[in-house]
Amino acid sequence: MANTILVGAQWGDEGKGKIIDVLTEQADVVVRSQGGNNAGHTVLIGAQKYILHLIPSGILRGKKQCVIGNGVVVDPVGLVREIEGLEALGVPVDGKLFISDAAHVVLPYHRLLDEQREVRKGRNKIGTTKRGIGPTYADKASRTGIRMLDLIDPERFAEVLRLRLRENNAVLKAFGAKPLSFAKVEAEYRAAGERLRPLVTNTVVMLNRAIRRRKSLLFEGAQGTFLDLDHGTYPFVTSSNTTAGGACTGSGVPPHRMDRVVGVMKAYTTRVGEGPFPTENQEISDLLHGMGREFGATTGRARRCGWFDTVLTRHAAMVNGIDQLAVTNLDGLDTVERIRVCVAYRCGGKKLDYVPTDGRLLETCEPVYREFPGWRASTADARSWKDLPARARQYLEAVSSLVGAPLMIVSVGPARDQTIFVK
Ligand code: IMP
Repeated sequence: MANTILVGAQWGDEGKGKIIDVLTEQADVVVRSQGGNNAGHTVLIGAQKYILHLIPSGILRGKKQCVIGNGVVVDPVGLVREIEGLEALGVPVDGKLFISDAAHVVLPYHRLLDEQREVRKGRNKIGTTKRGIGPTYADKASRTGIRMLDLIDPERFAEVLRLRLRENNAVLKAFGAKPLSFAKVEAEYRAAGERLRPLVTNTVVMLNRAIRRRKSLLFEGAQGTFLDLDHGTYPFVTSSNTTAGGACTGSGVPPHRMDRVVGVMKAYTTRVGEGPFPTENQEISDLLHGMGREFGATTGRARRCGWFDTVLTRHAAMVNGIDQLAVTNLDGLDTVERIRVCVAYRCGGKKLDYVPTDGRLLETCEPVYREFPGWRASTADARSWKDLPARARQYLEAVSSLVGAPLMIVSVGPARDQTIFVK
């Protein structure tokens, strides 16, 4: 398989975990290049459900190498917990998981600051996962971060932690929060550092060597295009570059070594957290929640749901250079009588076919819909394109043509075999 970047084309939770798992079969190395344990990728293998937050889902497939790249922010205590959870289920990680020595470390003050800032924003809160992601990336950009190479050197870690705690405890105090104890944080992080030390390496060199040896790399995007710090619905975004370019900076693999970009999108749209969502619809939210679907893997929050939005996904295809589409959760629409697809926005007296930069303007956009007749039949057992009801095929073909990229995969359920390869 060529070197592939897989990105979410909506607001995250597009079902990337399942598609990555399917594509991993053809890859040698699976790489995470941004985000942290704010992500939650659900993979169902047989009756066993795995929820991964930081570890690439390639870990569930035999001998694949899995890399947490330099662009990821790592909560080492959470990562050790995730490793132990996998080991308890009989999935070993040693010798398979590699962590960049340059990845930044999430510390308890990052989580506390995340929480405090959200509380202070009141009605204007972002709705973060409270995993400390924003403050960790802020420290990275301010050049006050602590990296994995610091964490695994106990003396160096103690020295930088002492300095960082002095400053951050003062900020926490100003927020009215309890300051953190150096001894407690140091002990907890030293233990996690010891467990992770054998896994920490220079992943930039490792990945470029793998490419020279003609190995296939799969870049597992976390979150989605409209949560991208630069291209998303700012400020209601995450703090990393979730779009295709982030795979290069977050891994040290140059752009000309990337061969294709696969965009994952649900057959409808969902969003967790605050921010504009033009096609949000209560009826489809109630329907999906009533089916027990669309609750977050990381926080358990009910996701906001709405119709498929081709303005959004076409914009995602442009920004990421999407070559092929993977459409997931088609079965979520099995019972819907009339399916709506947004084809343009009506905004301040104008018709827009792109996503405006100003979220306040996007907030006022009225979707222009095209309607499709529902197929009103279960698609869960379809295993090939021709097994799908004719109306489902028409819907998918229209989506592909409106987004402007060919369909590659359609997913009709969480299991590995509920996957249709279109081409
Ligand atoms: P943060 O990444 O925790 O700072 O949260 C910022 C925004 O991104 C919030 O709206 C979150 O709900 C959203 N977000 C972060 N990670 C995910 C994810 O993996 N799926 C969906 N939304 C996410």
